[in-house]
Amino acid sequence: MVVKEKYWAPRGRGVWRYASMLPLIDGVSLGEGQTPLVKSSLNGGLYIKFEGANPTGSFKDRGMALGVTVAKESGASKVVVASTGNTAASAAAYAARAGLKCYVVLPRGNVARGKLMQASLHGAELVMVNGLFDKALEYVVTYGTRYAYPLNSFNPWRLEGQKTLAFEVFEELGCPDYVVVPVGNAGNISAIWKGFKELAELGLCRKLPKMIGVQAEGAAPLAKAWERGSATPSFIDEPETVATAIKIGKPINWPKAIATVKESSGFFIAVSDGEILKAQKLLASRDGIGAEPAGAASVAAALKLRLSGTVVAVVTGHALKDPDAVEISAKEVRNADELVELLGQ
Ligand code: F0G
Repeated sequence: MVVKEKYWAPRGRGVWRYASMLPLIDGVSLGEGQTPLVKSSLNGGLYIKFEGANPTGSFKDRGMALGVTVAKESGASKVVVASTGNTAASAAAYAARAGLKCYVVLPRGNVARGKLMQASLHGAELVMVNGLFDKALEYVVTYGTRYAYPLNSFNPWRLEGQKTLAFEVFEELGCPDYVVVPVGNAGNISAIWKGFKELAELGLCRKLPKMIGVQAEGAAPLAKAWERGSATPSFIDEPETVATAIKIGKPINWPKAIATVKESSGFFIAVSDGEILKAQKLLASRDGIGAEPAGAASVAAALKLRLSGTVVAVVTGHALKDPDAVEISAKEVRNADELVELLGQ
């Protein structure tokens, strides 16, 4: 492990392409990062950064590459996370790769099926708690950290990995006018902002993007505080939204997220479940991109705001994560004639 001065020298693949901008030279990798940046047909300057194309289907893989590397190098044999599902899936896969035991503490009944399946497939120990994510995180902070290396987003190495999204956007598009990010526990938005700020410090990014944090209406402590003009959120005991990934009432990284939005002259906005599901459908049927509901929240906000200039909406997770969020309709044919009739319609 080497800590050194940062300089811009992208080389190779995945998050380790930006090793010269990271506190570590290399480490565990499943080929995370290098996700597609797709021009959307839904709005003029809108681009989709599709994080669902990461190895486990969410942006979490960027941070796990670094977090699990540090866990391994520091001699830990166990890692632990609280999760709404994606962190669990990612931690499970990267821990498996590094030969570490992984515990995932999950809110019973509030984790999408694909994510549970992944954590289980990769051999993590699934622990269900009664209560929501905030309770699971409280358990991990209070008890989990005594026995295992914690990989939630208060872990700074995770955020170092997640900042590489900014570097990838910069390489393809330069620095956009806006970056729209779904916010749950509020780590990712500040990680991406850190990436852009580092580009600016090196003189590469002359005009920094405005960061827009998107929350689901029923789980929007930061968007509500912003609306009130308050710098401190009122936490929500019973958050409610179809976007279970961001069903969080007490975001642990809230001070960083508020600082990000303020510093970047951005803002927070809430979108309804209806708007999220509509954006999910539009994105899938018009752009060919499958997002889980939380991932589509950024697109819902971008469409609602009709921002001008270059706008990057970060689609944080893949549609396959949450198959139950989509109603599946099918037609039945009983014979070849009926099939021919249907196809000819
Ligand atoms: N989008 C998706 C798909 C997520 O899984 C998460 C967070 C977020 C957005 C929000 O990111 O927490 O950095 O503000 N999921 C965490 C988890 C909480 O446990 O998987 P954030």
